Amino acid sequence: MATREQVGPPSSGPSPAVVRSPQASVRGEGRTAQQPPGGGNEFPLSRWRERGLGGEGGPGDPFDGFFAGPPRPAAAANGLLDIPGAHAWMSLVEWGSHTDLYTFQVPLDGRSGPRVEARGQPMLMLSSYDYLGLIGHPAIEAAAVEAVRTYGTGTGGVRLLTGTNSLHRELEHDLAIFKGTESAITFTSGYTAALAVISALFGPRDRVILDARSHRSVIDACKLAGVPFRRFRHNDPESLEAELRRELPARRTLVIVEGVYSMDGDICPLPEIVEVKRRHGAYLMVDEAHSFGVLGRTGRGIDEHWGVEPTEVDIWMGSLSKAIPANGGFLAGRRELMIYLQHGAAPYMFSAALCPAAAGAARAALQVIAAEPERLARMRRNALRLREGLRRLGFDTGASATPIVPVVQGANEAAFRLARDLFSLGIIATAVIPPAVPRHAARLRLCATAAHTPADIAEALAAFRAVRAPAAVGGSVTAALNGCSSPPLPLAGEGAGG
Ligand SMILES: Cc1ncc(COP(=O)(O)O)c(C=O)c1O
Repeated sequence: MATREQVGPPSSGPSPAVVRSPQASVRGEGRTAQQPPGGGNEFPLSRWRERGLGGEGGPGDPFDGFFAGPPRPAAAANGLLDIPGAHAWMSLVEWGSHTDLYTFQVPLDGRSGPRVEARGQPMLMLSSYDYLGLIGHPAIEAAAVEAVRTYGTGTGGVRLLTGTNSLHRELEHDLAIFKGTESAITFTSGYTAALAVISALFGPRDRVILDARSHRSVIDACKLAGVPFRRFRHNDPESLEAELRRELPARRTLVIVEGVYSMDGDICPLPEIVEVKRRHGAYLMVDEAHSFGVLGRTGRGIDEHWGVEPTEVDIWMGSLSKAIPANGGFLAGRRELMIYLQHGAAPYMFSAALCPAAAGAARAALQVIAAEPERLARMRRNALRLREGLRRLGFDTGASATPIVPVVQGANEAAFRLARDLFSLGIIATAVIPPAVPRHAARLRLCATAAHTPADIAEALAAFRAVRAPAAVGGSVTAALNGCSSPPLPLAGEGAGG
């Protein structure tokens, strides 16, 4: 049972009693680097709370004041929530609300971009996967508006029936050309695209072998398909080979990798993976959520990065919500595969078509990526500056080689504290905890974008220098999440998020 009394308090309380104005704090005025942030008095935490940071019922409080009133049993009072996952998450959220360490769901007061406004304060955004800085691009916004004017705000149907418009076909044509495949089809999200393709093609008599850091969408897809799945060691073709050698009465084997891993920012060794899958007659699916528009000379993805022919991959899957500043997902590959999926993939048949604004924006974004190659160069320069700067400061950025730069902390509480301390310095750098990352590998997940200026990156590094401290070995949050006798549901879902 998760009552307020039972929520494990952190071993040390939240350090700052006040929050400084972002600019002053980042400049380090008024305190030494050893002091925790929050030594000034421009912006008292109580006022921050009024705006909902601590779940106190302010306009930005995602819980509408649930944790602000007198203690009430959060999970057990409601039979629906009397499950390990709900106990764990409710404990975590309650603990975070009371310690001001709940740093998720901060509402932005406008567009995302390198500079945003949150709770009325200007902030530097360091965790958006708008890699090419295309959110707010005038041509893309104009295309979205034009799509709404021409096609309306909704499609009024599923693709097979009345939901298809000419913009869908044009976008799919452009995606196929961009990806170098015969054909492509779109979905309302990348997550849905993963569910669609795996459940349409594989079942209990087949098997899936996926990278240990695979995204939750492909794991859920395997569960939906009822296809048995096993993991191979992250980015390790030898481990994949060992899995493929296992004698299993599987009809067909699908190997799944990602172009760029969303929580680590490292790159898939695609040539070796292709070699291994060929040797074993397996099929290969690549999730390009974070490599499409990001890797390769022209941003075409992991195949362009390595010089691998797109036809070496049987199923390409991607998202239209990362480098492409819209919503939606796609599958790309051979024409006959796409024709079958139009009829055999449930989300294509039983869920409404991609809305016109997203389709229009995505189409325009592909044109902008081709027309403005300097964005890729800027993104890469910024990523290098950020990554190298953090490494010089002693932060653990793992194997990052892309704009995704993790700052590994270990304990969940340490990651939340770092996110909160940076937030108080005017930086949005989101914490990610299990199940999005492996246990005891909580981190901040930073993204450098083409829209950041050198001054933005310098400001970010100054903030990290200011908060630099040995990683807290807190553990109370970890305990809140892991302390149930059976594993809490969210942790049972292994697989990266975001
Ligand atoms: C690696 C990976 N695959 C798939 C997805 C799902 O994409 P979408 O957000 O379009 O549903 C994500 C989302 O963050 C992701 O990080």
